[in-house]
Amino acid sequence: MNDLVDIDVLRQRVGIKWAQAGADVLPGWIADMDFPVPDQVRAVLRHGADGDLGYPAWDDRPDRNPLQQAFADRMRDRYDFTVDPGAVYVFTELIQVLQIVLQLMTRPGDAIAVHTPTYPPFLKTLEVMGRRLVPIPMIAGEHGWTFDIEQMAEDVRRNGCRAVILVNPNNPTGHVFDRDELSAIAEIACRNDLFVISDEIHSELTHEPYRHIPLASLGPEIARRTVTLNSASKTFNLAGLRCCVAHVGDSRVRAALDAQPPQLYGQVSALSVLATHTAWQEGAEWLARTRQTLIGNRDLVADALPPEIRFLRPAASYLAWLDCRGLELDQDPAAFFLEHAKVRLLSGPDFGPGGAGFARLNFATFRPVLEEMLSRVGNAAQQHLNR
Ligand SMILES: Cc1ncc(COP(=O)(O)O)c(C=O)c1O
Repeated sequence: MNDLVDIDVLRQRVGIKWAQAGADVLPGWIADMDFPVPDQVRAVLRHGADGDLGYPAWDDRPDRNPLQQAFADRMRDRYDFTVDPGAVYVFTELIQVLQIVLQLMTRPGDAIAVHTPTYPPFLKTLEVMGRRLVPIPMIAGEHGWTFDIEQMAEDVRRNGCRAVILVNPNNPTGHVFDRDELSAIAEIACRNDLFVISDEIHSELTHEPYRHIPLASLGPEIARRTVTLNSASKTFNLAGLRCCVAHVGDSRVRAALDAQPPQLYGQVSALSVLATHTAWQEGAEWLARTRQTLIGNRDLVADALPPEIRFLRPAASYLAWLDCRGLELDQDPAAFFLEHAKVRLLSGPDFGPGGAGFARLNFATFRPVLEEMLSRVGNAAQQHLNR
């Protein structure tokens, strides 16, 4: 995966990560990996492009979509999590499901608890939909990220929260919530009659020795009030295909979804379903290799950054949440590194409370590109410190 890399070829890509990087800028911003997708997925996409692009075989019966059973099998095999295929719905993207479910199940003004900092589209969604964010601060501890469970219980109760959005593994911190934390969240949700959206899109990129536990697998009480979101888009680098699944454990949400006109939310393309299915069925070897590459890259980031940029190794995925406060910059770190290092990162403040002074680096790229990015960031930081 780290063999030959031609940056000029990467710059010709149409995906947003490179297409909007800017001349001479190296992109470490949007969460796409630079790696090619599994060969089996390429074969399926080629087969379609070669002339098999008719209406999908499940067009008249969405309940025949192969992803329902495939997702149920995957949850059983990986996590011992029993999923009813009939409760699996297929949508185009996680943010779409989040918005649909919030629209159906909450009202403007309702309070929604979210760990912060958080993935910016969640903040935008809450703002546009007029839902009230109740931030649950993530805390950088000695052994990794955590949060204050008692404080969460109190904030949820005091604000009369209607729902909680859990992002596990967490973006941007890379924290993988452990069983105790998840049990506490489930207990808070049940006690306060919360409805839960559990975004588990980064789960299959959980690094050893951490283990992903689907929230809804904890027991029937929490499963009954949870919508679990997942897809192959982060794991297998297929985000442009636009396909995800939602396991809707909450019968009220199922009833609300089933009452909508069937085409209201659009439908996923046949190719995205076939690619997801193929990745899930045949992508194990590719995934094992990719995860190894990511661990190597993560360690390189840890070794290469100057000590003034603090970085807790993420327990999952390929995003490094860089604490740049030690640099004492007088601007947003992402803006600083774009200007002085020609490296594009995501801006910490865009992640809401707890984001000031931080920037997010995507390290899922080829080794020479990552080395160059880290060298540019390190040099710019050093020059600033020597000023
Ligand atoms: C936590 C999280 N949720 C959702 C998404 C986006 O998913 P989708 O493209 O399916 O909307 C991302 C993408 O980076 C993410 O990190």
